[in-house]
Amino acid sequence: MSDRERWGTRIGLVLAMAGNAVGLGNFLRFPVQAAQNGGGTFMIPYFISFLILGIPLMWIEWGIGRYGGSFGHGSVPGMFDRLTDQKKKWAKYLGVMGVVMPLVVFIYYTFIVSWMLAMSFFSLTGDYFGLRDIDEMRGYLGSFQNIFDSSYSGPLVTLFFFAITFIFLGWVLRRGLSGGIEKLALIGMPILFVFAFVLMWRVLTLPTMAASPADGLNFIWNPDWSSLGNAKVWLAAAGQMFFTLSVGMGSIHCYASYVKRDEDIALTGLSTAATNEFAEVVLGGTIAIPAAVVFFGVTGATAIANGGAFDLGIVAMAVVFQGLPGPEILGKLVAFLWFFLLFIAGITSSVALASPTIAFLQDEMQFTRKKAAAMVTAIALALGLFIIIFFRNGALDEWDYWAGTFGLVVFAAIEIVLFAYVFGIDRGWDELHRGADIKIPAFYKPVMKYVTPLFLFTLLGWWGATEALPTLLMQKVDDPSQIPYLWLSRGVMVALLVIGTILIKRSWARKAGEEA
Ligand code: ALA
Repeated sequence: MSDRERWGTRIGLVLAMAGNAVGLGNFLRFPVQAAQNGGGTFMIPYFISFLILGIPLMWIEWGIGRYGGSFGHGSVPGMFDRLTDQKKKWAKYLGVMGVVMPLVVFIYYTFIVSWMLAMSFFSLTGDYFGLRDIDEMRGYLGSFQNIFDSSYSGPLVTLFFFAITFIFLGWVLRRGLSGGIEKLALIGMPILFVFAFVLMWRVLTLPTMAASPADGLNFIWNPDWSSLGNAKVWLAAAGQMFFTLSVGMGSIHCYASYVKRDEDIALTGLSTAATNEFAEVVLGGTIAIPAAVVFFGVTGATAIANGGAFDLGIVAMAVVFQGLPGPEILGKLVAFLWFFLLFIAGITSSVALASPTIAFLQDEMQFTRKKAAAMVTAIALALGLFIIIFFRNGALDEWDYWAGTFGLVVFAAIEIVLFAYVFGIDRGWDELHRGADIKIPAFYKPVMKYVTPLFLFTLLGWWGATEALPTLLMQKVDDPSQIPYLWLSRGVMVALLVIGTILIKRSWARKAGEEA
């Protein structure tokens, strides 16, 4: 469709896709996952997951996205409809996951991104300097995250940074694909890489304290083959792969839908995955983990990582920056670099997470870009308040589990079946090679047809039985007083899925009426 938006330049597309994938997952989530799962022990299942899960799914999602985009669909319902040649009426309804899940992740993810903006600001003002103990710093962050805890900052501070972040995002999204999202990536991504290199250099030149920087690198790079038999490590590695590459979310599809019909996706898809891995393993792995190991030793760093999702990347780093050799102002500047890097990484992923819903409103419901962006920002602000209010009751974790972890595997399993079996792997393979600058190695064809689906369904069964089912039945809740709030959080997600399904039904009925 000629009137759809397009990427302005190839470098803009590459950086926007890299911005989509490179996010908090690379710099916050990866170090925690690696440290919790024994450092080098984690890396073998991680790389295997990259080869047989990450890369094939990345290509498939680019393929589905560009194919759907050629029919004017930027979101998954329309793409699934086209993958089945519009012959399977149910396919578009399965696509509702690719609109609702990224919206849900967008909302809580952007709340976390707003903490990074706040921490950047408070690094420069030195607000938390003086809190040199991990527990004190945990309290500081906790008080910011939870508006009912005023021990360090009142609710207005949290709400202020939350509002600023969403208003900025709304503005970028309103400016459109090349004028907003692509510009943000063109400016933000180079800054992110420069900041990351400076931080990496600072960490690697740290003097030996509890341990040396080399001990930190050793911890993450010393492989332990015995991990191959450990189910927990495999699940963690596969889960990280989904989150970090943004596969199973609907946002890669959406960005790919704005690519021209004959523009390469084989090399560009691979470069997205490679850039993300470079940012994750080389940059992400060389900042937070070695820094924490230098200050706290391997045992201390592992204990901190086991304390919570944000303890290594936010709490421990805030303590580390206060203890850097040299004048305090340098520590403040380095802290700013770290938290602002996280902010940039997060914000470029946030715009991608908002995009499938915006595309759905534009392509299927004839909204203008400005109206769609305003609508999504307003919904996100309202539901963001829900997350802020019920944060202490576990609402964010609940959404993250279903929409940002387990749901990704379910979605990927559905899309790979549609791509390899309903659309057909031969057609799919040709589609991936249309206008391609490289030939995808032939062994990826059977991988896409057999290996990746088998891996995905094994994960689903394993994970489903050991984690998802007990979680669904609330058997894993530590604090029973949270149960009503967890149900409420689920209720919101289910309501969004129902609304999405109704909107799909109505827009397809309207289109059928117009065609008749
Ligand atoms: N892929 C994005 C991240 O890593 C969502 O944070």
